[in-house]
Amino acid sequence: MTRNYSRLDQLIISIDTALRMSSGETVEAKRPNPATSVPEIVMDEVNRQHAAGLMRINHAGEICAQALYAGQAATARNPEVQAEMQQAADEEIDHLSWCKERLDELESRPSLLAPLWYAGSFAIGAAAGLAGDGWSLGFLKETENQVEAHLEGHIAKLPAEDERSRAILDQMKIDEAKHAQMAEDSGAFDLPRPVRRLMKLTAGAMKAVAYKL
Ligand SMILES: [Fe+2]
Ligand SMILES: [Fe+2]
Repeated sequence: MTRNYSRLDQLIISIDTALRMSSGETVEAKRPNPATSVPEIVMDEVNRQHAAGLMRINHAGEICAQALYAGQAATARNPEVQAEMQQAADEEIDHLSWCKERLDELESRPSLLAPLWYAGSFAIGAAAGLAGDGWSLGFLKETENQVEAHLEGHIAKLPAEDERSRAILDQMKIDEAKHAQMAEDSGAFDLPRPVRRLMKLTAGAMKAVAYKL
């Protein structure tokens, strides 16, 4: 009974979190923002909008990360796996918070489709969790690997003078690699190539939309 209540609690908490994040509310980070000591450089309008588009994608990605981890934590069978999912989800809150702060500094806003990103990702995370812990961890590891590669690309695409965004993405990249390693150490299965490809295509569609919307 307790376990059921605990999962129901998790679901309620994650829906509450989703509503708050989707409305653009800033969530509190546990660690200091990596950009804190990096001086702000005033960018021209084109570069500012480009940087904002990239950081909106990263903010949307972190909303997806929240939903994926919440969906998986709600369905994971092994309590240890469940606890690890929760710990990683807590670290993703830092990323979400830092991206939101940067969007504010760039005088921009989160994706208007945030509730949709959250709902879709929660369903995918729950489905991965229901498939079993090995697959769920495999999905997590692949997600984190793809996010790490994506961040590498975004770090290169940022306007050269946007060192504040770059500092945030640098730290996120380190954390995502750590999450992938955690999943591997916990017994992640290797996902079939078509699944990995589908994940890339889905993420690509989300990125194309979130850059503007
Ligand atoms: Fe993240
Ligand atoms: Fe991560």
